[in-house]
Amino acid sequence: MEPVKIGLLGLGTVGGGTVNVLKRNAEEIARRAGRSIVISHASARNLNKPRICDTTGIKLTNDPREVVEDPEVQIVVELIGGDTLASEMVMRAIANGKHVVTANKALIAKQGNEIFAAAQKQGVMVAFEAAVAGGIPIIKAIREGLAGNKIEWLAGIINGTGNFILTEMREKGRAFADVLAEAQRLGYAEADPTFDVEGIDAAHKLTILASIAYGVPLQFDKAYTDGITKITRDDVAYAEQLGYRIKHLGISRRTPNGIELRVHPTLIPESRLIANVNGVMNAVLVKGDAVGATLYYGAGAGAEATASAVVADIVDVVRTLTSDPENRVPHLAFQPNQLSNLPILPMEEVETAYYLRLHALDKPGVLADITGIFGEMGISIEAIIQKEQPEGDQHVPIIFLTQRVQERAMNSAIERIEALDAIDGQVARIRLEMLG
Ligand code: NDP
Ligand code: HSE
Repeated sequence: MEPVKIGLLGLGTVGGGTVNVLKRNAEEIARRAGRSIVISHASARNLNKPRICDTTGIKLTNDPREVVEDPEVQIVVELIGGDTLASEMVMRAIANGKHVVTANKALIAKQGNEIFAAAQKQGVMVAFEAAVAGGIPIIKAIREGLAGNKIEWLAGIINGTGNFILTEMREKGRAFADVLAEAQRLGYAEADPTFDVEGIDAAHKLTILASIAYGVPLQFDKAYTDGITKITRDDVAYAEQLGYRIKHLGISRRTPNGIELRVHPTLIPESRLIANVNGVMNAVLVKGDAVGATLYYGAGAGAEATASAVVADIVDVVRTLTSDPENRVPHLAFQPNQLSNLPILPMEEVETAYYLRLHALDKPGVLADITGIFGEMGISIEAIIQKEQPEGDQHVPIIFLTQRVQERAMNSAIERIEALDAIDGQVARIRLEMLG
């Protein structure tokens, strides 16, 4: 049988990794797919750039349009990134009747609904395993492995760069900017690294996970996003003293009123496995009603780890090339006409516990004023710790851990506490989840 011909858009970190894995494991991959797979045509912006892969035997161009218009190409693998040129190329490929594999979470989270509709019309597949959690086969696990469950919640460390930064800061006391630069050198970070550190990349991924978990359309614009740039070394140390770790989590929960969709730094008990996921590693916890809690762990970024997911998608597409489109696994796990309209909850309606750090004058009555506000807002306190007074400062850091309460009540309480004369500056807030 003729080999299946791949058109590859992008020869950077993931594109280069994909070429290497497909070449090195060609025989093993062909045994699985039932056919040989070759990259026949590839594009990159600058053809003179040194590559991490050997492109011998691949027709090269700096115009990705030539690849998606190539009649020999059956599967287009989009590894350019972004949501402009990549979007145009994916839509052209679909219009040309080609299957698509992509690692582009921004594209799927923002334009996935339209892309899948177009693909369904054309009877082609769009596979995106590498878009979430790098090499971890989390899409397949939720979409197929957990298909018998009603998914209740999921929570994950789904940005490798952010976790790498937090780990290096905590373990080695390294500066934020220095670790970010290293993550960029290693090829982990997005083209615009603010996507990593502000939680936008994690929100793209969480949007995709929630859609396949609950069978709702992709709604990235409704995700709540908070980054890691405001986390201080003091908060990391105080959290540890209390038995918690700070992780940047994407959390989604099905509630009777709607779906939570939120990315923010989170205190989690240090005894949880996910609290010990470090460096570029990712982990996703998924709770199904039948299976209980399940945990998926692996490299969240990097050339070959991500290529592993890209190649798995290519093999899946090759295996189903001849199958009737109606009998394929649906793009978002649920049949397209069976998507639910359960709303995404506004952050104000989300309920979590909190870690709060504030700086208060060390004098009688101040603590009573603060706890009085909590009492009036119906917020129960789990623990209060007063730290040592820093030299030359009249204010002392006080840490509160609260029980679960709606974000709306906490916003009002924080506003009232910050308005007290005895309080210096803003109240630092980090949400806390037990993930039990
Ligand atoms: P890179 O920047 O390393 O690679 C992008 C590739 O696209 C390069 O080969 C670049 O060409 C090419 N390209 C960019 N713009 C153009 C253009 N205008 N015309 C033609 N070619 C262009 O990115 P990554 O490999 O890191 O990421 C690719 C995708 O994979 C992104 O969607 C990313 O979010 C996703 N991803 C990345 C992971 C990672 O660990 N890096 C992990 C999981 C997903 P040239 O090389 O000549 O500049
Ligand atoms: N920039 C992303 C990360 C790449 O660091 O997780 C993997 O999606």
